[in-house]
Amino acid sequence: MLSFFVYAAYGSMILTLLVYKYFHVPKGLPNVPTVPVYVTLAGLWSGLGQDEIYDRWLRKPLETHGAVKIWVQGGWRILITRPDLLTSIFRDEDLYAKSGHMKRAPWTVISALLGDNMLAAHGDKWRLFASIMKPGLQKTRHHSGLLLEKSREFIDLLIRTQADGPDGGILVDPLIQRFTLAAMGESLLDLDLGTLDRAGLRIDELAAMIIRTVFKPLYFHFPDLDRFPWLFRSRKRAFAIMKELDDLLCHLVRENPRKLELKKPLDSQDELVIHSLERALDEKLISDHQFRSNLKLMFVTGYENTQQLLNSLFWKLGTDQSVQDKVRTEVYDSNIIDPTEESFSALPYLTAVVAELLRCYPPISQLVNRRTQKPCRLGDIGDLPQGTIVGYNAYGVHTDEHVWGPTARDFIPERWGHSSDEILARMRKETAKGTFIPFSSHNRKCPGLGFAVLETKIVLFELVRRVKWHVAPDYKIKWTRGGFLMPLELRIFVSELPVRDAKAEEN
Ligand code: HEM
Repeated sequence: MLSFFVYAAYGSMILTLLVYKYFHVPKGLPNVPTVPVYVTLAGLWSGLGQDEIYDRWLRKPLETHGAVKIWVQGGWRILITRPDLLTSIFRDEDLYAKSGHMKRAPWTVISALLGDNMLAAHGDKWRLFASIMKPGLQKTRHHSGLLLEKSREFIDLLIRTQADGPDGGILVDPLIQRFTLAAMGESLLDLDLGTLDRAGLRIDELAAMIIRTVFKPLYFHFPDLDRFPWLFRSRKRAFAIMKELDDLLCHLVRENPRKLELKKPLDSQDELVIHSLERALDEKLISDHQFRSNLKLMFVTGYENTQQLLNSLFWKLGTDQSVQDKVRTEVYDSNIIDPTEESFSALPYLTAVVAELLRCYPPISQLVNRRTQKPCRLGDIGDLPQGTIVGYNAYGVHTDEHVWGPTARDFIPERWGHSSDEILARMRKETAKGTFIPFSSHNRKCPGLGFAVLETKIVLFELVRRVKWHVAPDYKIKWTRGGFLMPLELRIFVSELPVRDAKAEEN
């Protein structure tokens, strides 16, 4: 009996120490409000979407103070929404260095997924990875024909699915994923993944599992739990999924017949990301692990953020028919049938709609992955000790009335301007000021920006030209509870429009 009490006392001491280690706010952090730990896990217990969580617990302290202390991914971090503070962070990558999961928690499922890659790297290693991958990523002019072809196949798929579809409307996310996978495969990896032709391919299934697995709030915010895959069977499965993706992707890429064509030097204009990545591996500039890591990074970043943005596009324009009709009228009036990147200068409203979607629904709504390399002062917020992890909430910045005025939370494409030049200049200016950061800012800004925006514009162009859609009347909006921002399980009805082409217009 006595030994039971001794064990119980030891047990509770250990538990108290663990709780203390986990939830004690370290000394030396700035004097800004502390968000209670239960808010981080609100997505798990409250059933609220991340917009509701933000409104209930984060908006007020962040809009008042510009920064808060918050428990994220295994520790207390500084979350910031004041644009001037963010700009000082984005500008100084030497001081606020990227510190990815591989550095902070190498034992986790997310580290198993992404490994040693460009997104997480810093200094010389980042420069090496960037020199290999950026040129292929930023070659958007090259991509428009392929993106148009894939967009057309996607819309055929929507129409076919609607024709056979259930009465409650079609679940659009799985179809969007099949499209973004196909577009990414062809444009970045020189691979026909076949996802638009067939449902249920293993690569498509794995892609759907990744987000669900990596962003499970409990494991995402308590990374130490990933140390015990033997205890949590779902985590054991999660590691197995990441390994399967690694093997399958490498197999698809390395066994692809076009590898043979690479024996002769490619015209640099035709070189895609995968070609330069393979060349870097062959020339031993990068290790096999780095090749695989960056390949998976291209795969994941290449399809999933655009997938989330397109979900938001279907939601917004499917509930606000006036915006959909206005884009359609602009597209019809332009008489453009086969758009290229240049065509969008004649489509300012469509361009502004894409900008406004990125502002209201930034797919990467929150990102906390920079680490101070030495003690420093963050504006008037206070001193940060060396090793402090800082990050931002883009949704918060974009919907703050102090930043975007009283209409900050309304969807108003016209706010961006009326000519394409004006809109693009405004997007660049707001990005540099830290007030529009869906793709981050300064030298670690997303290199896939041009590709993602072009893909979204082309698919929107084709959508309004060929179909009309509305959100299923019984669908109740629920945004994701954490991780990426997008509507959950959106259902829509699609109807095909009569064919219109430029010649028909002229007659
Ligand atoms: C709507 C679509 C997209 C959004 C919203 C988005 C957003 C972002 C953001 C916010 C970052 C900064 C991450 C950080 O600071 O750690 C980033 C980085 C990155 N993105 Fe994207 N992205 C999108 C599409 C793409 C695409 C299509 C690719 C192509 C492969 C891509 C590749 C990358 C890479 C490689 C980085 C790392 C850059 C670096 O650390 O230097 N992204 N993206």
